[in-house]
Amino acid sequence: MTVHFIGAGPGAADLITLRGRDLIAAAPVCLYAGSLVPAALLDHCPPGARIVNTAPLSLDQIVAEIVAAHAAGHDVARLHSGDLSVWSAMGEQLRRLRALRIPVSITPGVPAFAAAAATLEAELTLPGIAQSLVLTRTPGRASAMPPAETLAAFAATGATLAIHLSIHRLAAIVDALLPTHGADCPVAIVWRASWPDERVVRATLATIVAAAADGPERTALILVGRVLAATDFGDSSLYASGYDRRFRPQSVGSRFAGGDAA
Ligand SMILES: C[S@@+](CC[C@H](N)C(=O)[O-])C[C@H]1O[C@@H](n2cnc3c(N)ncnc32)[C@H](O)[C@@H]1O
Repeated sequence: MTVHFIGAGPGAADLITLRGRDLIAAAPVCLYAGSLVPAALLDHCPPGARIVNTAPLSLDQIVAEIVAAHAAGHDVARLHSGDLSVWSAMGEQLRRLRALRIPVSITPGVPAFAAAAATLEAELTLPGIAQSLVLTRTPGRASAMPPAETLAAFAATGATLAIHLSIHRLAAIVDALLPTHGADCPVAIVWRASWPDERVVRATLATIVAAAADGPERTALILVGRVLAATDFGDSSLYASGYDRRFRPQSVGSRFAGGDAA
């Protein structure tokens, strides 16, 4: 018996890995994390599967479900939205399951920031503009931020920002970023990326609050950075015609010529 943690992707039911789909199809028990996991994914569950929405459950109740499945020798498909490596609450479940010596596997999923970038048809790292992406959030009712992880500190780096779980604090985000980024810095908000009711607003720090005023207060990603509107950036070296590299040695004398050099 194994608990298979599976990244269910950002919303579209076909944005799950083949491995994730097959694990769901083979598991007699499926625990899924509420409305952010598309209902259509549950169609992959085998007939007669026990399917439980864990949104109203406590951690103890979720673990109790898993312990019962373990006692019955039933694999569990445990679905969380997006990928499991960020804001999935997987860590606390893993800690409990390790203590109980219940085996686990982890299958990654498409994170929301990647789905939002796809919607925007944007690369979030462009040569000379930004080479880092910060996945962050603002403090929530149940989640304080470590003191050094302020928006101002991340903003000072100039990295592209992907701000989660914070659409209800848009005005405060703008106030925090204006001093470093300037009023003309591009901002995009993608609500429910990849869902049928996906919505997008593009604006600047000066105009985003008004532009997003009638948007829903949940399930949105706020992307901030010059990459969102940049056209004047260099080509990457990777595909430059004269760039000497392992897969395209430029001369017989290249250190990459003849095969396998690192
Ligand atoms: C609890 S976190 C889950 C993040 C998820 N594990 C991931 O890999 O993206 C929920 C937040 O992720 C963002 N989010 C999740 N799905 C989204 C989507 N389809 N479109 C836009 N934002 C989304 C929102 O900021 C939302 O408040």
